[in-house]
Amino acid sequence: MSDGATARGSATEREEARKIAEGLEHLSGFGNEHASEAVPGALPVGRNSPQRAPLGLYAEQLSGSAFTEPRAQNRRSWLYRIRPSAAHPAFTRTGNGALRSAPFTQTVPDPNRLRWNPLPDPAEGTDFLAGLWTLGGNGDVTQRSGMAVHLYHADASMRRVFSDADGELLIVPERGGLLLRTEFGLLHVEPGHIALIPRGVRFRVELLDETARGYVCENYGAPFRLPDLGPIGANGLANARDFRAPVAAYEDVEGPVEVANKFCGNLWAATYDHSPLDVVAWHGNHVPYAYDLRRFNVMGTISYDHPDPSIFTVLTSPSDTPGLAGVDFVVFAPRWLVGEDTFRPPYFHRNVMSEYMGLIEGAYDAKTAGEGGFVPGGGSLHNMMSAHGPDRETFDRASAAELRPQKIDDGLAFMFETRWPVSLTPQAARADHLQQGYDDVWQGLERHFRPLH
Ligand SMILES: [Fe+2]
Repeated sequence: MSDGATARGSATEREEARKIAEGLEHLSGFGNEHASEAVPGALPVGRNSPQRAPLGLYAEQLSGSAFTEPRAQNRRSWLYRIRPSAAHPAFTRTGNGALRSAPFTQTVPDPNRLRWNPLPDPAEGTDFLAGLWTLGGNGDVTQRSGMAVHLYHADASMRRVFSDADGELLIVPERGGLLLRTEFGLLHVEPGHIALIPRGVRFRVELLDETARGYVCENYGAPFRLPDLGPIGANGLANARDFRAPVAAYEDVEGPVEVANKFCGNLWAATYDHSPLDVVAWHGNHVPYAYDLRRFNVMGTISYDHPDPSIFTVLTSPSDTPGLAGVDFVVFAPRWLVGEDTFRPPYFHRNVMSEYMGLIEGAYDAKTAGEGGFVPGGGSLHNMMSAHGPDRETFDRASAAELRPQKIDDGLAFMFETRWPVSLTPQAARADHLQQGYDDVWQGLERHFRPLH
């Protein structure tokens, strides 16, 4: 290679990708029936599958729900593409790298509170897919239930294209901007944003900075949706119009393109003779989207006590039981604390749900920051019924604090909260970056009880 290019791609490529990313237009809304065409006239009018689709394109439906699911849950998109997706050679198995899938049965489920430092730097030339490292999860990909927690680290843009038949991918960048080239068009996310790639949608991740790092929730269950708002009313939490969907954009590439496909827990690959990101127009509601977590409209007390953290739910994947999520995505965004006579940080608790927490930037208000603590890129797991809450230092400080209105604006943390315990992969259970002695943060919580008699 020349001109300073390496296996990671050149600085010029990153600059060009950033220029594209920062000039993108988008469609607005969540769960909409969107429609978009990259070439005028590419979208058929009045029908989905005309005898001959416009401009010599092939019409194809991509279903994200069973054909017969109720209208409110029904998801599908119609794609108008240069070649139909069916035009591909056989897939063959490839290595899974550090990517693992449910059921997670290789370790004994661990009731201990666990915390990890960030992933170490990737080997040179690692793209997003190769850089996926699975921490654990629950459920079963073949039953379309449960979830997996992955982390990623990358220093190279993908040259190949990837799709995941096992679930949707909620990508939470912590370091480095990403340009996502999808069948539906392009999305740009930076740390503090999230992106969602629906089940089966093909995409490629290009890096906008030298390295990228973050978290991924692979949701095998029902697609994420906005939570019901109940007495909150018609507005609040994540507002639908702040979600960005791509406008149609296509690649017209003739030549070998490697396509990776995750199916029932394994990676498969085939070399196409064209790019499958060749959708010229589309319409529907099974679409990728992005969202800036700083747009989250945070709700909280204006009198006393700390509401349950479900008040911070951005997206929820419901189960068959009302109110019981397969997985919730929850964000701890900048907010004011004003509760009177209230212990303001998150309270001590034990939860039937299992909580994986990550930190995008700054510090989290229940944990002391700094090396060896809860740091950006790291994560903690508080499994079903494990007792947790503020560490000793936070408890002492918050119990004595003067209760003036206080702005929490130095951190952005999130949680994947799931109905089933998270079982670890062997690589997570034995990782060098698994912290030792996490229990110690709750040591020294002194006895203060003084009976009156
Ligand atoms: Fe918790």
